[in-house]
Amino acid sequence: MCGIIGYVGTKNSVPFLIEGLKKLEYRGYDSAGIAVVQDGQVQRVRAVGKVVELEKATLLASPHGNCGIGHTRWATHGKPSEENSHPHTDCSGEIVVVHNGIIENFLILKEKLQTLGHKFQSETDTEVIAHLIEENLKHTRAASEEDRLFRAVMKTSNELHGAFAYSVMWAHTPQQIIGVKNQSPLAVGVGKNENFLASDVPAFLKYTNKVLFLEDGQTVVLTPKEVKLYGMDGKETKVKTTKISWDQKTAEKSGYPHFMLKEIYEQAQGIEDTLRTAKEDFGRILGLKTEDLRKIKNVYLVACGTAYHAAMIGKYYLENFAGVTASVDLASEFKYRTIPPSKDTLCIAVSQSGETADTLGAVKKAQELGFKRLAICNVLGSGLTRACGSVFFTHCGPEISVASTKAFTSQIISLYALAVFLGHASGNISQKVFNKLYKELLSIPKSVTETLKIEYDVRHLTKKVYKSNRFIFLGRNVDYPIALEGALKLKEISYVSAEGFAAGEIKHGPISIIDKGTPVIVLMPKNQLFDKMLSACQECRARGAFVIALTTPDGKEEAASVCDKQIIVPQASEYLQPVLDVIALQFFAYWIAKRLGCDIDQPRNLAKSVTVE
Ligand code: F6R
Repeated sequence: MCGIIGYVGTKNSVPFLIEGLKKLEYRGYDSAGIAVVQDGQVQRVRAVGKVVELEKATLLASPHGNCGIGHTRWATHGKPSEENSHPHTDCSGEIVVVHNGIIENFLILKEKLQTLGHKFQSETDTEVIAHLIEENLKHTRAASEEDRLFRAVMKTSNELHGAFAYSVMWAHTPQQIIGVKNQSPLAVGVGKNENFLASDVPAFLKYTNKVLFLEDGQTVVLTPKEVKLYGMDGKETKVKTTKISWDQKTAEKSGYPHFMLKEIYEQAQGIEDTLRTAKEDFGRILGLKTEDLRKIKNVYLVACGTAYHAAMIGKYYLENFAGVTASVDLASEFKYRTIPPSKDTLCIAVSQSGETADTLGAVKKAQELGFKRLAICNVLGSGLTRACGSVFFTHCGPEISVASTKAFTSQIISLYALAVFLGHASGNISQKVFNKLYKELLSIPKSVTETLKIEYDVRHLTKKVYKSNRFIFLGRNVDYPIALEGALKLKEISYVSAEGFAAGEIKHGPISIIDKGTPVIVLMPKNQLFDKMLSACQECRARGAFVIALTTPDGKEEAASVCDKQIIVPQASEYLQPVLDVIALQFFAYWIAKRLGCDIDQPRNLAKSVTVE
């Protein structure tokens, strides 16, 4: 939540800052701001709303400087207003700070600084950083102003509690920006005669793919020519960069009206890329020997939101293919459970961003319990990948739309592959069964490509129902989490009420909310549960529901007699069918939101990475 950015080089930093903030906007869009150093003075421009408002304000103020920092905000402390927008300054207005995360002890620090005479202008926790640096600078001596700032920042960081990443610029050091990371992400882009800093790589990917991912407790000092990295003890440490393989296009809309639609269409590729490394990676991924694998009897899956729905499907896979007992928990709830410690338990954390505070908290608990930890994650260098002993990367490229789509299908595929490999390695499934399952898995990108052709039909269908203010999604077995996901997707981008239920449950209560015309989307691919789903359709229809059956070609005729409309997706094996079914529901949510004129990529009140608990 919140995105920070910085540039130091030979060019005017402003166009880069604005462009980069637009790429980080998915992290929050309540307000935005930039500051540059110009002729030894700080120029700051801030605006409430999206980055385009800031862009307009910048055109009027026309700041110019070779060194600048910026921020896009998801409000935590204080309402979205200009005063609460970053960058924040000290009393002199010469020190500017942008920050992502939460300073937990800010009230104590604020009171202390106020008694020392500091005057605050915002309600934010961030502002204490600027004043604390100002205070620490007063008591710091060094050979140069650059070194003095560095020392004051190091001292300041030691006084801050919480999860944060921040960047500082000072009018007296116009060729230097400093970045600090502690549990919130921070990456540095290493360029030629220019260096970049941002919460996420797409912000500077156009200029460099040489990236340094900071570790917790590290501080980085950027000048146009140098990147210097320091540990918590203030000692310089080696800069190790990673070459990012995504090209810039992956982080752009490439002609699509929305990132969400583009990302829906990228799913076949995302799955294929994820599968490409699966065999090799899972061979060594768990870092476990076969005898250790055999000992794993319990698996806890933890995740939030859409990733939680993928984890729910993973539970079915692990039980069915790997023969282990699996349970799935909302990461935010996992920490309240009382679970016995064990060395033979595996905790699998599923997360697109690898930054979700609740998921990181759950993994911390798993570590305390002595569990082995595996992350299924899409972002290189993220906190989760460092918190887990093993990592399997979903290779679906950067996901920009706040509503997760391609990460979800890659997560399902990863969990399927994991369960199948685990089942094979532990002897739960024979070589013959393994070969069959693996073959089915490899054929899924082709089926996904086929499924993507249904957009037109789904779009047409949404014309009938988009004015409804309540939707119900029903599924069973592996399609139950898909019903939940279909409802989540719809409510998050259309703001309408949508609920997903296990089809067998509706008669135990939820059926009472159905009245004339309520759209009920029933997931009923032709499989062993098809007949039960036919009954569910009939029950809903008898109460006046407008039933939309999502079925496969073989179920088409029978479904026609119990529904008002149909969506036909290709048939896959029972356990892979959810991957195809969800695509229809992603299009469904997209087209309803589009017809309602909603802000699809940046729905209200949300941010993509939820870095607060
Ligand atoms: C919904 C959505 C969220 C995320 C959730 C977890 O479309 O995107 O529900 O799935 O916040 O995020 P990650 O996967 O980054 O941990």
